[in-house]
Amino acid sequence: MDAYRDQNYLLNRQYQDATNFGARVDLHRRFRVNPYGFHRWVFDHFTLNEGSQVLELGCGPGGLWRSNHQRIPASWQITLTDFSPGMLQEARALLGEERFTYQVADAQALPFADGSFDAVIANHMLYHIPDLKRALSEIRRVLKPSGHFYATTFGREHLRELDELIWKQWPHRPGKGLGKSAPFMLENGQEQLAPFFTQVTLETYEDALEVTEAEPLAAYVFSGRLGSFLTQEMRESFTNLIRQELAARGTLHLTTALGMFEAQKA
Ligand SMILES: C[S@@+](CC[C@H](N)C(=O)[O-])C[C@H]1O[C@@H](n2cnc3c(N)ncnc32)[C@H](O)[C@@H]1O
Repeated sequence: MDAYRDQNYLLNRQYQDATNFGARVDLHRRFRVNPYGFHRWVFDHFTLNEGSQVLELGCGPGGLWRSNHQRIPASWQITLTDFSPGMLQEARALLGEERFTYQVADAQALPFADGSFDAVIANHMLYHIPDLKRALSEIRRVLKPSGHFYATTFGREHLRELDELIWKQWPHRPGKGLGKSAPFMLENGQEQLAPFFTQVTLETYEDALEVTEAEPLAAYVFSGRLGSFLTQEMRESFTNLIRQELAARGTLHLTTALGMFEAQKA
């Protein structure tokens, strides 16, 4: 199984709690060019009625709802799920019990009856699922007729300047020049959703990062799988490379490629 879908690593290390994910959110929050914010942009696309039943898969620490707290209609009934109990605990601590119901659930086997939800949201998580067809058929099953599915992800060019920096430091790392490749991304999402949903559309979010500090960018890299292979000395050496680049260029520009697929059950 590829690095994106290694269940043991994801559940017991990467997403055991929100620490690693938090380092990545932090980089975007501090250095994004578009002040609007991705989660607010995602929320803008929801076309849901009063009293909607909403399910989020892989909710992580609940960032989507924290970013939109003031404008969530009081009548929505929102169920937040994640396969990591640690992540769900973090979401519960940050969002409280009043507006949300929480349940540990793997997206490949949803513990809900057929036709339960008006909307299902999968925010940056479908690329982690080993059997994506099974998950998509589960999502379809739990949606009401003409229910909406919203799935965000990244594209091939996302943070490509950072990948180039990593290759500069470790030139023998595989994949150089190929762009990012993940099981569910902007470039290959449509064809995977089409067998399960109708009216599949994709919208992209315009942004970029202008990074001015070495440590948050280094923390981003160390929070990923690469971080588990690095000694302290290697970490220091990579952080120094970022410092040198910043001294030479002033800021590090990072391209972002982010977007959302919207689809309907029928
Ligand atoms: C990149 S984080 C995204 C968190 C959140 N959706 C956000 O965008 O802020 C991916 C999340 O998906 C969860 N996840 C990964 N595989 C999953 C699966 N098979 N079923 C449910 N959740 C899963 C992880 O535990 C993690 O919280």
